[in-house]
Amino acid sequence: MKIQMTEFYTGKKGDGKTLTVLVSGMDADKLIEQPDGNATLQLAVKEVTHKSYPLLARIIIRYAKQTKAQTLIIPVDELITRAPDYGTEKAFEVLVTNLLLAEYAYDVHITDKKRNHHVANCIITTDRLKMLQTALKKGLQKGMLTNEARELINTPACDMTPLFFANYVKKMVPKQANVSVKVFAKKDLQKMGANAILAVGAGSPSEPCMVVVEYKGAKPKDEPIVLVGKGITFDTGGVNVKPGDSMHQMHMDMTGAASVLQSFIYAVNQKVQKNIVAIMCVAENSVSGTSYRVNDIIKTLSGKTVEVLNTDAEGRLVLADGIAYADKYKPAVILTAATLTGAAIVALGQRLNAMFASDDGLAKDLYNAGWLSHDYCWHMPLWSEFEKDMQGTVSDLANIPPRNSRAGGTITAASFLHQFAKPHRFGHIDCAPRMTAIEEDKLAFGATGSPTLMFMEYLES
Ligand code: BES
Ligand code: ZN
Ligand code: ZN
Repeated sequence: MKIQMTEFYTGKKGDGKTLTVLVSGMDADKLIEQPDGNATLQLAVKEVTHKSYPLLARIIIRYAKQTKAQTLIIPVDELITRAPDYGTEKAFEVLVTNLLLAEYAYDVHITDKKRNHHVANCIITTDRLKMLQTALKKGLQKGMLTNEARELINTPACDMTPLFFANYVKKMVPKQANVSVKVFAKKDLQKMGANAILAVGAGSPSEPCMVVVEYKGAKPKDEPIVLVGKGITFDTGGVNVKPGDSMHQMHMDMTGAASVLQSFIYAVNQKVQKNIVAIMCVAENSVSGTSYRVNDIIKTLSGKTVEVLNTDAEGRLVLADGIAYADKYKPAVILTAATLTGAAIVALGQRLNAMFASDDGLAKDLYNAGWLSHDYCWHMPLWSEFEKDMQGTVSDLANIPPRNSRAGGTITAASFLHQFAKPHRFGHIDCAPRMTAIEEDKLAFGATGSPTLMFMEYLES
């Protein structure tokens, strides 16, 4: 969908069927099909809250798809005044992003192109053309790059191998002097001692890798923000193979890696004046004769040893090496994003992610980034008491608590990661809750792309 902004629009040849949106104070939306074949939507915007505001954009797109409109016309000035917590520009940016998010669907493999209607053009009319230029660009970038993340996440594991992911990064990261890409292949990881990533990837014929991208937007010596993403291209659980239908959707277990990548690209495109590094730990957790086993003891990149008590707790292992690698940058802060625990879904449901932080200032910043981007999270405890739950019996750490292994599963996982991040400032998003869209989101089936938007907000704040 192409989004354009203009002062007046009276229609032109090739518009096809148009849907024009009008703001209405009524209780319910009203769709009017006109005799000339076009349609009008009277959109009910009575009680708009911070949380319901982005849904207005998504509802508009739903109607546009439903009516099979080719051109969507949105007079935007009145609509954006309805956002309760924002100034005009941010309200407009959020609207643009959400139009794009709602338009996206993973449909490259559907032969019948009529099954999912795509709106070709969106014409936004406004009296504030000049004022909204920057917000338009930001909104477009955020929407497009989040949809890129969703496309990566939705791609099945038969195509999305670690090598495919690494090549994608090389292709997509802007080629400019202050940006670099490094791919550490299996032999590089062996040399380095990233044995946790190697162990997790050992069962798959697709070799694991670590992809590192660096951006210098500030003075060379300024401490960078380092993002670390879990990139499990498929999570079978390993020899602790996932039971029943819980393997379903485990091609999305690289959500963290896709999110850190796209938010990194956003920061580069926006010329954010910070140094930023994104580390993506990419492996397939397969079952085979070469898979790592229960009771294996791994010497991780940090030097700490970890006993594997469950091969399905693989995300924290690959991240342990990614975090250890982050240490080399003397980071101002390390932020991890991972679909780490099913327990996070049990704890919070599917409307928001779990967030951890090593200090309250960081927790506040992360919470606010989530709130402003509508990519929400909730602060969970990172108390030192949980560290002893993760202590190993015959090693420094175990990858699940040796006793009482399910209690506080999201917290113990975060505590495990924290021990690799110390003494640095550390934040962690367990994005298992928001991995897939729910009906209420009014987004297409599959990945939401979360926490891409939250990280974009954090990086530019
Ligand atoms: N990738 C899964 C977590 C997950 C589950 C994400 C469902 C999204 C939806 C992770 O690797 C995993 O399997 N975690 C285990 C941890 C357990 C063995 C301590 C889990 O949640 O069951
Ligand atoms: Zn797992
Ligand atoms: Zn996993």
